[in-house]
Amino acid sequence: RKPRLLAFAGSLRQNSYNRHLAANAAEMARAAGAEVVEVNLRDYPLPMFDEDVEAQGVPENVRALKDLFATADGLLIANPEYNGSVTAALKNLIDWVSRPDGQFAPAELFKGRKAALFATSPGGLGGMRGLNHLRDILQPLGTWITPTMLAVPGSMNVFDAEGKLVDEGMATQLKAVVEQTVAAIQQ
Ligand code: FNR
Repeated sequence: RKPRLLAFAGSLRQNSYNRHLAANAAEMARAAGAEVVEVNLRDYPLPMFDEDVEAQGVPENVRALKDLFATADGLLIANPEYNGSVTAALKNLIDWVSRPDGQFAPAELFKGRKAALFATSPGGLGGMRGLNHLRDILQPLGTWITPTMLAVPGSMNVFDAEGKLVDEGMATQLKAVVEQTVAAIQQ
């Protein structure tokens, strides 16, 4: 069957540049032969992880996200850098999805997944510091990270009004990372 990827941004913002970046990556992955489900985390509001909340039962949106992760071979994640690190929304999602719940073992939904990590920010580094942290979080969960992590600086100037990545150099690099990730799943 076709490689199946989940694409999402670690931002809840309506007009998130990182969601644009995830959507561009998704389109490139489809062109490379993958099936991609784009997830907008804004549609899955999650409570802040709390073991007491968890003890009352897994929230419906966590269940829905876990079901999506369960069928995915890989992840395309675009993470905005907040204060040099991952967003709280993304870390909260990872904490919820990594938990055992009777159906899944700890970290089972990250284990063996191939993940490409991207970021875009208005700043000159494009959010690379956040990507280094994200890799450090995911690798111990057993996720395989595509070696090249792409940070796109100048987010205000690289997308058109429809969110298409129009910076040709960055689009070429994004395509290469996406194709490497799809190929890694196919191997
Ligand atoms: C930021 N931003 C930011 N940018 C960056 O390059 N390095 C950083 O450390 C931070 N820190 C930071 C903290 C907080 C709390 C906010 C809200 C923002 C700017 C950030 O990159 C910018 O708002 C992006 O546009 C956010 O991504 P989305 O939501 O457009 O995907």
